[in-house]
Amino acid sequence: MTVAALDVSSFAFTEAAPAKVNLYLHVTGRRADGYHLLDSFVVFAGAGDVLHYQPGPEPLHLHIVGRFGRLLDASAAGADNLVLKAARALQGLCGTQAHVQGGTLVLDKKLPVASGIGGGSADAAATLRLLDRAWNVQASREDLLKLAETLGADVPVCLLSQTTRMEGIGENLTPAPHLPECGMVLVNCGQAVSTPEVFRRRDGAFAPRAAMPEHWDNLADVVAFLAQQGNSLEAPACAVCPPVGHVLADLSGQDGCLMARMSGSGATCFALFATPQAARQAADRLEDAHPAWWVWGGGLV
Ligand code: C5P
Repeated sequence: MTVAALDVSSFAFTEAAPAKVNLYLHVTGRRADGYHLLDSFVVFAGAGDVLHYQPGPEPLHLHIVGRFGRLLDASAAGADNLVLKAARALQGLCGTQAHVQGGTLVLDKKLPVASGIGGGSADAAATLRLLDRAWNVQASREDLLKLAETLGADVPVCLLSQTTRMEGIGENLTPAPHLPECGMVLVNCGQAVSTPEVFRRRDGAFAPRAAMPEHWDNLADVVAFLAQQGNSLEAPACAVCPPVGHVLADLSGQDGCLMARMSGSGATCFALFATPQAARQAADRLEDAHPAWWVWGGGLV
């Protein structure tokens, strides 16, 4: 079913689920349970999935539509979907049926799935924000963050959807200095990369925690700082999925590219530009040269 067929324009509630981008990502250690400790500077791009909700008498159900909706099989809209899990978690928090309503959720999947830029985590976080508002739950920020943690490591930072330093496995969040105006290009080569495999392939050494400045005077300072950092998962992701290396080379070669790096465990890579316009122009060139790639250019949220 298409979004138009569902006529989401008449839906009462809409929430954006912006793409999460790890400007740097250091693997700093490993927990006893095998999960890796991270230090990451996270921003959110103007690209994202969109969640729509129309309250109704029928039990809460989910339709997934959009460019990448068809890649999620039919069961993806079932009870295991993170959107419905987030809705159930919020219902659990309410503890009373008073707030809880049924109705239709429509997830417009504009971002590639399993691609290192949030995806399911951003959708789950958007669900918590949207239903908290729609059901007038008025949950505290702390309660929503705790719920988010139970849904996945990246869900708390996506709940905030603002420039943040993320540590631990994603539960330690501190505000990070906002970037000056800039542009970003996102590119995904269309190959899903297995997160556990990328972590497994990483070499044993742990990276130190970054010395993050408290503010930026200009974009050149940001770029100089980021040049000293990296993504500990980039080399293992290139080994698992060589097209990531090609994407990085093409991004770096674009006129006006200030730096290029992989986000999360891949395969999506990003590049910074001086302005959203410069990023859109580079995105147009990349899209023409590689019609099979998913390419987006614009600003940050
Ligand atoms: O968070 P997500 O479910 O995508 O993680 C998939 C797998 O990646 C985990 O089961 C774990 O093997 C690995 N992982 C990790 N450390 C993290 C995040 C993920 O080792 N901080």
